[in-house]
Amino acid sequence: MYAKFHSIGAYVPSKVLSNSDLEKMVDTSDEWILKRTGISERRIADVDENTSDMATKASKLAIERAGLESSDIDLIVCATVTPDYFNMPATSCIISDKLGIKNVQAFDISAACSGFVYALSVAKAFIESGMKKHVLIIGAEKFSSIVDYTDRTTCILFGDGAGAAVISATEDKDEAFIDVHASADGSYSDFLMTPAPGTVNPLSAQVIEEGLNFVQMKGNETFKLAVKTLTKDVKDILANNSIASEDIPHFIPHQANYRIIKAVGDALKMKEEQVVLTVGKYGNTSAASIPMAINEVWESGRLKKGELMLLDTFGGGLTWASALLPFAGESK
Ligand code: UT7
Repeated sequence: MYAKFHSIGAYVPSKVLSNSDLEKMVDTSDEWILKRTGISERRIADVDENTSDMATKASKLAIERAGLESSDIDLIVCATVTPDYFNMPATSCIISDKLGIKNVQAFDISAACSGFVYALSVAKAFIESGMKKHVLIIGAEKFSSIVDYTDRTTCILFGDGAGAAVISATEDKDEAFIDVHASADGSYSDFLMTPAPGTVNPLSAQVIEEGLNFVQMKGNETFKLAVKTLTKDVKDILANNSIASEDIPHFIPHQANYRIIKAVGDALKMKEEQVVLTVGKYGNTSAASIPMAINEVWESGRLKKGELMLLDTFGGGLTWASALLPFAGESK
C-alpha cells in the first residue's frame, strides 16, 4: 500500500494587518519590511477564533474535495505550536469533535514551521504500514497569540491561518509519495523559541511581566542557517531520486521570507514560474504556510492531477523537512 496526496483545503481569517498598520505600532516602515521580507500584509484571527476553528474550516474543505465523509477519516494529525490549550487536550482532539468524528486516533505534532511536512511523514508511515486508510493532516496557527506587537523584529513577520490535506492509501505507484525527509538539530533550539509556559518557565506573574510567553528569534542567524540547510536538503532529495529541478512544476517552500525562497530557488536554478509565493499576502504562518500555499496553487487551477510538488521547510527546533510527491487529487 502507498500513500497519496488526495486533497487540499485552507482557511484564512478575514482581518488584514498591513505594513502601514504596523508602522503605527512599532518603529518600522513598509519599505523596510517589503525589502527585507517581501511581506505586504498578513491575516489575524478574531479574539474568539481559535486554532481549532481555522483548522476545522480547512479540514472540511479537504475532506469534501477528497470526496469523503468525516467518518472516513481514521487518523487526525494537527501540526501547531499555537494549540488551543498548551498542555491538553490536543488541538486535533478538539478538531475531531468539531468535525463530528468519533473513535478516531488524534494527536498533535510540535515541529514549528516544519510541522506539516513532519505530519506528511507520519501519514505516510501509518498508511504504508497498513494501519490507516485516510489520514487528515493539518497545519494551523494562531501565531498572533504568541507575538509581541511591541517587538519590531518579530511582529512584522507572522500571521494566522490553516491548511489541511487528506492523505489516502492507494495501490497505484504512480500516485504515491516519492520521498519525505524530516530532520532536527536541537543544539540550535535557542534560535527560535517561546521561553514560557513550560517546565523551565512555568506560568507566573514574572513570566508575563518579562514577556517570556512571546516568540523570540535570532533572526539573522536563523536566516543564514535556513538558506544553507534548505539548499542542501532540496538538492539532496532531488539527487537521491534522480529528478532534475527543471522537472519540478511546483516548488512550494515554507513562506518565511522572500529572500530565503529566492536564494534557495536560485541555487536550484528554478524559474520564477516554478516557485509558489504567498509570503507577500500572508506572511509567515508557520505550520500552515505550506498547505495554504498548496491550496493557493490548486484553487488557481495551476496544480493539476499528477503534477510533481517539491516542498521544503525550516523552523523552530531547529527542524527542517522536504518532500517530493505528485498531487494525486482531482484538478480544479
Ligand atoms: O519560519 C521559521 C524560520 N524563520 C526565518 O527563517 C526568519 C529568518 N529571518 C529573517 O527573515 C530576517 O533575519 C529578518 C527579516 C527577521 C531580519 O532581516 P535581516 O536582514 O536579517 O535584518 P537584521 O536582523 O540583520 O537587522 C538589520 C537592521 C538592524 O538595525 P542595525 O543594528 O543595523 O541598526 C535592526 O535593528 O534592521 C533593524 N530592524 C528593523 N528596522 C526596521 C529589525 N527589524 C526591523 C523592522 N523595521 N521591523
